[in-house]
Amino acid sequence: MILPVTIYGDPVLRKVAKPIDAEYKGLAEFIENMWATMYHSDGVGLAAPQVGRSVRIFVVDATGLADEEPELADFKKVFINAEIIERFGDDEGMNEGCLSLPGLREDVTRKTEILIRYQDENFVEHEEEYSGFAARVIQHEYDHLEGKLFVDHLSPLRKRLLKGKLTNISKGKVNVGYKIRIPGK
Ligand code: NI
Repeated sequence: MILPVTIYGDPVLRKVAKPIDAEYKGLAEFIENMWATMYHSDGVGLAAPQVGRSVRIFVVDATGLADEEPELADFKKVFINAEIIERFGDDEGMNEGCLSLPGLREDVTRKTEILIRYQDENFVEHEEEYSGFAARVIQHEYDHLEGKLFVDHLSPLRKRLLKGKLTNISKGKVNVGYKIRIPGK
């Protein structure tokens, strides 16, 4: 089932999400719905708060970009209770978008490498290093669990310049090809 995507201004996007355990009710179905919602909206990642649930789950599928970056060929994963243990490498700027900030794309500086610990959909624990685009997508989705959005990484000046756009997004004045949940409605 395709779920409506929460957008800028929705309080759920500002909460620190809670961990879950294997008893979490309806988990398999919820993950299926996250995949369906992400593919429907052409995203490469989606975090649970973006579909209104403040829990520590995000999904990523960047396999469609494997032509440009061959190491992304198997980068389709469910991350549960993820914890970024370390960020290292260089600072790199790259243009980012977010399903919760429709129509907005900005350069965001992030570390190029990360070490992350997480559980998969079967609650098997993993500790892995990622670099490049994969590290970027993970850091972006992980931010959602911490109540952060990519605009929080921008300079105060840049953010001020975007204020009108952000206000419009929060009022649902956006052109999107997917279902959104307008804050306060
Ligand atoms: Ni996002």
